[in-house]
Amino acid sequence: MKKKLIAGNWKMNGSIEANDGLVRAVLAGMGTPGCAVAVCVPAPYLAQLQMLRAASALELGAQDVSAHDKGAYTGEVSAAMLREFGVRYAIVGHSERRQYHGETDVLVADKAKAALAQGITPIVCVGETLAQREAGQTEEVVKRQLAAVIHANGHCVSELVVAYEPVWAIGTGKTASPQMAQAVHAVLRAQLRAATPQADRVQILYGGSMNAANAAELLAQPDIDGGLIGGASLKAADFLTIVTAAGRA
Ligand code: 13P
Repeated sequence: MKKKLIAGNWKMNGSIEANDGLVRAVLAGMGTPGCAVAVCVPAPYLAQLQMLRAASALELGAQDVSAHDKGAYTGEVSAAMLREFGVRYAIVGHSERRQYHGETDVLVADKAKAALAQGITPIVCVGETLAQREAGQTEEVVKRQLAAVIHANGHCVSELVVAYEPVWAIGTGKTASPQMAQAVHAVLRAQLRAATPQADRVQILYGGSMNAANAAELLAQPDIDGGLIGGASLKAADFLTIVTAAGRA
């Protein structure tokens, strides 16, 4: 069976001191995890995390990556730069970037491509807003978002990680029910199957108020292959509970 992946998305949180405490506690409690585990941290902390994680099973992720290789793109961080810090994953197309930074489906697809070119696994986020769900557009929205990435990445599609993150569930305490999430994951799986014979190895994560209490039930769904965890990834005990649940699922 495919291993699950639990990835923390710290968002714009942390400090050198807080990171140290959090990562040491996670490493101390993690042992040999039964799933893949990663933390996606703000770029300035990559060097600190590279040292803290040392040779452990805790993988390192970035929260964004430039679509460009190098040059006059002030403020951007390239995939090659991330690679130098041992980064294994890069979140692309998080709804907060789509919403606050105007990222389009095409830009997100280009970012995924730039990451793959450096051997970094993009965690491609898709998800509908509350208004879109209420208008019955969920399927159409997530398929459109994923289609752009599939289109730009051709035979590399099986190298992606996909994260379904309903925007209305992010940071709100409102989780999609396991059945609701599974229904969307099944749609995404079918779309991946149409694109690659290796679709079943693609990990499709759920994200949106996943926590220590609801993780096991979500992770028991057939097409939920892990979680992208915001708030709960900032608390070692909660994050470890989710990691344990994923190891058992
Ligand atoms: P929360 O777990 O805080 O709802 O955030 C989810 C998320 O956006 C992860 O990328």
